[in-house]
Amino acid sequence: MRGGCDVTAFSTNPDKEAEAHELGANHFVNSRDPKALEQVANSFDLILSTVNADLDWGIYVNALRPKGRLHFVGVVPNAIPAQAFPLIAGQKSLSGSPLGSPTTTAKMLDFAARHGIAPVTEMFEFSQVNEALEHLEAGKARYRIVLKP
Ligand SMILES: NC(=O)c1ccc[n+]([C@@H]2O[C@H](COP(=O)([O-])OP(=O)(O)OC[C@H]3O[C@@H](n4cnc5c(N)ncnc54)[C@H](OP(=O)(O)O)[C@@H]3O)[C@@H](O)[C@H]2O)c1
Repeated sequence: MRGGCDVTAFSTNPDKEAEAHELGANHFVNSRDPKALEQVANSFDLILSTVNADLDWGIYVNALRPKGRLHFVGVVPNAIPAQAFPLIAGQKSLSGSPLGSPTTTAKMLDFAARHGIAPVTEMFEFSQVNEALEHLEAGKARYRIVLKP
């Protein structure tokens, strides 16, 4: 339990499992493993989607408990198809939200400072921008790349 929540990290990359636990996740699901997704059916009050790709969203609606919510902050390229019946029968919701206002962002930074929460970054010299892009495109970035001037 983290802050009263039981947190599950979803990732396509099993190499991130140990890191997800270090960062506070209680459980890890390989989102490319159909069996692992089936096993978490009816499990979550909230799923927060940060992906920028089209997925089979019905599986994620199925992974919600009754009255659960699938919330989008990641911008997926295409429309999100959803069957009405599982939403109606389970009283489930789909929703989204943008970045916070300057006030909300300031509150978030205060919260992060108070609890010692810092981003995980990798530094590259600006002259290594091509190497940094290759590293990013290979899915190896952990987790944000910062270019040093
Ligand atoms: N709501 C807002 O106000 C707001 C603000 C900023 C950004 N965004 C949006 O948020 C999204 C994420 O941005 P980001 O900078 O965090 O991108 P990012 O670093 O590329 O992260 C996206 C993650 O999605 C996962 N992913 C990528 N392709 C996938 C696929 N085919 N299937 C399943 N998972 C996949 C990957 O995680 P794994 O490697 O762990 O699988 C990847 O690390 C973008 O769409 C961006 O436009 C929204």
